[in-house]
Amino acid sequence: MRWIRAVGRGVLVAAVVLAGHAGAAAPPGGPSAGGRGPLTFVTAGDLTHYLRPLLDDWNRERPAEPVTLVELPDSADETRAQMLSELRSGGGRFDVLNIDVAWTSEFAAAGLIAPLARDRFALDAFLRPVVDTATFEGRLYAVPYVTNAGLLYYRADILGAAGEKPPRTWSELARQARTLAPRSGLDGYAGQFLPYEGLTVNLTEAIQSAGGTVLRDEGTRIAVDSDAARAGFAFLADGLREGWIPQEALRYKEEESRAAFVEGRLLFLRNWPYVYTDADGPGSKVAGRFGAVPLPGAHGPGTSVLGGSNLAVSARSRHPATAADFLAYLTSERVQRQVLTKGALPPVLASLYDDPGLVASHPYLTILRESVLSAVPRPKSPRYGQVSLAVQAVGQDVLALRESPEEAVRRLTRELGDISGGG
Ligand code: GLC
Repeated sequence: MRWIRAVGRGVLVAAVVLAGHAGAAAPPGGPSAGGRGPLTFVTAGDLTHYLRPLLDDWNRERPAEPVTLVELPDSADETRAQMLSELRSGGGRFDVLNIDVAWTSEFAAAGLIAPLARDRFALDAFLRPVVDTATFEGRLYAVPYVTNAGLLYYRADILGAAGEKPPRTWSELARQARTLAPRSGLDGYAGQFLPYEGLTVNLTEAIQSAGGTVLRDEGTRIAVDSDAARAGFAFLADGLREGWIPQEALRYKEEESRAAFVEGRLLFLRNWPYVYTDADGPGSKVAGRFGAVPLPGAHGPGTSVLGGSNLAVSARSRHPATAADFLAYLTSERVQRQVLTKGALPPVLASLYDDPGLVASHPYLTILRESVLSAVPRPKSPRYGQVSLAVQAVGQDVLALRESPEEAVRRLTRELGDISGGG
């Protein structure tokens, strides 16, 4: 994992060739009979360490249709930008794309990914909400691959010693972060607050965990001018003003915030389930001393944004038949099991969440399923990218205490209006 990350970070288009030949290298009219031939598989460059043996297996069995892994940077926004620019250039270098669930509609509406035959994939076996993220205007444009829901990680040793339970509300979290963290020399709370998709996720969760929403009706109605949105912004702004959210957190993406928790510097962390395995692993200072619960909210438990990624096929791929087989392979039971056990990522196959062996080895599975099933998907807007940028920009000013929650909500309402009115 660390090796891959070192390669991906800061590199504009990092291509780590693990095996096989790039699809684009095949000559026109080459080995593509019936849409069959080599493929490139493009993905964000983090959390990919487990993929190599899975692709090796595929490549051994299909020497005429090998898959080459292309890794892009680990920030969701940079990966999206690079995928979009390659697909829009019409170059046909990418065949199969591991896209964030948030982008499926945008890619589909732009005609960059190809519709897929529903009966080709065992969609009924997947967790229900994830299948919906792969459809746009009634058609299937991708196959769910990994799901995700944010959890609140907490230091069970510190809360236990103080006779406290993990927080269910923001006021409990704030009180514990304010009082217990400094006594143990820790920072209180962090999420992902650098301006990128992760900040949009954290702000959206804060708004919806107070009962609000940014957009309604698949992104067609702006709904952010609400007490809930003001409360959500205020929760995070208060943390920064009062110091129980550290200033460093303004620079955190997933990995920086994970490191702060596993190095024993944080009492509470909002992050995805992949952190659990790492925090319990040999290099962690908090192994055996932490727990994970659903996100807290304004008046009781909150809700996560539905995360994860879908597998899509470029509309320009010359080997769509092989690509469809590859999608079926990556969503097979055998691979989905390894997505969890080797990749520490939440699988989309529902049956795995009831598997007694997996539940024993991954104790967070039950809470995770609950969180995924109650998670709120991002709007299916072809303009989601612009919406997210507007949320990030406003959120950045709120967290820097340059703008009050009241002003922020007014400005965001205006900017979202411009986006929906603009061409
Ligand atoms: C995770 C989620 C994804 C989300 C991203 C934000 O990768 O799976 O859906 O957009 O984090 O950083």
